Amino acid sequence: MNASVVIHWTDVGAASDVPYQGARRVETDLGAVAVFHTVSGEYFAIFDRCPHKNGPLSEGIVHGKAVACPLHNWSISLETGQALGADAGKGCTPVVPLMIEDGRILLGLNS
Ligand code: FES
Repeated sequence: MNASVVIHWTDVGAASDVPYQGARRVETDLGAVAVFHTVSGEYFAIFDRCPHKNGPLSEGIVHGKAVACPLHNWSISLETGQALGADAGKGCTPVVPLMIEDGRILLGLNS
């Protein structure tokens, strides 16, 4: 028997509202999610809490496909949610499935 997961996509706003090389915090039923817009024009979504001490990643500095946490400067991958560099292996923030459709941000927020 095949087990399949159906993703329920939730529209959380316009992609153009996420600043270039920045982020926007989105409140969801599952918690706050940070949606990032990288310098290369890609979008990523991860929960808005650092795996170190829950710092607000949406207020961090985006560099490449990572964000530097504003509290203690851990670097978190936007692709995997994993801590990078010297803090690799110390923690991970859950990644949220994201797609852009007709200029809208859709998040896969299955509970
Ligand atoms: S809370 Fe993010 S580095 Fe400490």
